[in-house]
Amino acid sequence: MAPRAIITGAAGLIGQYVMQSAARWAPGWEVHGLTRADLDLTDQAAVEQTWQRIDPQAVIHCAALSRTKDCEHQPELARRINVDATAQLARLSNDIPFIFLSSGEVFDGRQGWYREEDSPNPINVYGKTKLEAERLVLENLRHTVLRIVLTAGISQQGDRSFVEDLCRLAKRGVNASLYADEFRTPLPAGSIARAIWELCAKTVPGLYHLGGRERLSRWDIGQALLPWYPELQGRLIEGSARSHAGAPRPADLSLNCEKIQTVVSFPIPGFRSWLESRMHRDGDLWDYEPACRKR
Ligand SMILES: NC(=O)c1ccc[n+]([C@@H]2O[C@H](COP(=O)([O-])OP(=O)(O)OC[C@H]3O[C@@H](n4cnc5c(N)ncnc54)[C@H](OP(=O)(O)O)[C@@H]3O)[C@@H](O)[C@H]2O)c1
Repeated sequence: MAPRAIITGAAGLIGQYVMQSAARWAPGWEVHGLTRADLDLTDQAAVEQTWQRIDPQAVIHCAALSRTKDCEHQPELARRINVDATAQLARLSNDIPFIFLSSGEVFDGRQGWYREEDSPNPINVYGKTKLEAERLVLENLRHTVLRIVLTAGISQQGDRSFVEDLCRLAKRGVNASLYADEFRTPLPAGSIARAIWELCAKTVPGLYHLGGRERLSRWDIGQALLPWYPELQGRLIEGSARSHAGAPRPADLSLNCEKIQTVVSFPIPGFRSWLESRMHRDGDLWDYEPACRKR
């Protein structure tokens, strides 16, 4: 009988890629994707019942209140979803691998190129809830925390990734201000999904950073997308985080991914070079499969 894996947040950006790529990267697994409609993770009795019914051999926990702004506005809810629900799932998964998706937002962003051993210091509610959850998860030596940053891709809903956010604004005739002094190491969701499945297959628990090889400003990222999304032409404005009002934003969340590179079987790409490599390939740009075609 095939081992069973639960994927939470299966309708989210990364959850969708994990689900869609399972046939390729994890063909031996029977995959049980849970959306919010299937199961509200704040309903502890329902969570326990569902977990027992599926009786999984691994859990990949992608569900979260993932938008910084939402967490700032609803800190209690952020805590219930990001910390309490994670703690319950980790407890239920005591004897099996559990992979928790965390974020570079656990850092304050003053240093950049963060390694796993660097000290976290979150500056917003989202980062604080993620760090609290990480600590609970890592109490179990079988469990894994994967910190990621800005993830590119497309979703069924069309409103999940920063690429989709930019295109939606452009379609409405709204300009997007992209900060030239805020740095991330973006990565396509397909690469993240592949790494997750590889972590799931190997017995290598612990804390990992997974970011793209290139440190890019938000402005650089927008420029890199222009050849693929001509509708963004003239809609991107070079801005500065100094003018930002709202939840505190870490300036530089570039992640050093040397540790995870020793575990995964594929070279972790830089975002710009990944896009360039797709120029003359067949397939859709954001497919989890490597072969892609220009739009
Ligand atoms: N994408 C990024 O750039 C990024 C960067 C760093 C870390 N991460 C982390 O990576 C993970 C996946 O991110 P993502 O981009 O896929 O986020 P996402 O698109 O927001 O997906 C999260 C999913 O969690 C679900 N969810 C929220 N509350 C729930 C609840 N009470 N019960 C059940 N499901 C619930 C959401 O349901 P609905 O569909 O109903 O909203 C959504 O489908 C998250 O832990 C996120 O914090 C993401």
